Amino acid sequence: MPLENMTDMLAKASAGKYAVGAFNILDYNSTKAVVTAAEETSSPIIIQTSTKTAIFWGTSAIIAWVRELAESSPVPIALHLDHCKDLDLIRQCIEAGWTSVMIDASARPFEENLALSRQVVEMARPRRITVEAELGAIVGVEDDIHVKEQDAHLADPEQAARFCSEVEPDCFAPAVGTAHGVYKGEPKIAYDRIDQIAARTGVPLALHGGTGLSDEVFKKCISLGCAKVNISTQLKYAFIDGFVAYHARNNTEYDPLKVIGAQFEELKRGIIEKIKLFGGCQGEQEG
Ligand code: 13P
Repeated sequence: MPLENMTDMLAKASAGKYAVGAFNILDYNSTKAVVTAAEETSSPIIIQTSTKTAIFWGTSAIIAWVRELAESSPVPIALHLDHCKDLDLIRQCIEAGWTSVMIDASARPFEENLALSRQVVEMARPRRITVEAELGAIVGVEDDIHVKEQDAHLADPEQAARFCSEVEPDCFAPAVGTAHGVYKGEPKIAYDRIDQIAARTGVPLALHGGTGLSDEVFKKCISLGCAKVNISTQLKYAFIDGFVAYHARNNTEYDPLKVIGAQFEELKRGIIEKIKLFGGCQGEQEG
């Protein structure tokens, strides 16, 4: 199928109270693992690229892999640019064929975040590209965005309502207590904020910082309005561990395709687990 934007998949997820997994890919092998996991579970899927990954491979290589995999796939697939502060890169991805983008102007003062996010919506909407925007500061490291614990703050429901009514994002990422990277202790999720923000904005929410959250946390956040769940660090670990573990078990064998195959299986296994947990496969069957 041709690539889709996030409109339909997130509308169905919100209505069906499940979430679509959004997985940060690293290369062709991890992209293929995400698509195969979606196919094996009959689920819609969001392939995400960090800005670093988009720059590392270049937009034309990435769009070629993703289109080639999507065109022969029966499941809905969106290609989304994760956390991007740079309007030029956003424009470049839109022109290359990404179907969705995230503007992350959350480090700026509220009015500037609002104006920049609105500008991206105005650039994207006529081309049917969906837009995710962020409010608050999510702790941790994602790409070149570093937020220290003392600088993190949750999104305010009042501001979130104004932000969403003026920006009109297709997907909204409020900071609600999750963190990018590996959790150091028990995360303190502000469920009341998720509930209030979902009710006051009516916009499908993106849950960032998915790696390391418990099944119960995912289920509760999804039931409160998180229709997109982001997973990145898990794939970074599987990418390296899958590779290294195979070689450790077969340390006299120098057959790269076997190592790449083992890495693929390790990635796919973890992605399938998450898709099943988020309920996307069930939703797709019902939808
Ligand atoms: P993790 O790296 O914690 O999985 O977070 C992913 C994310 O939110 C990407 O935007």
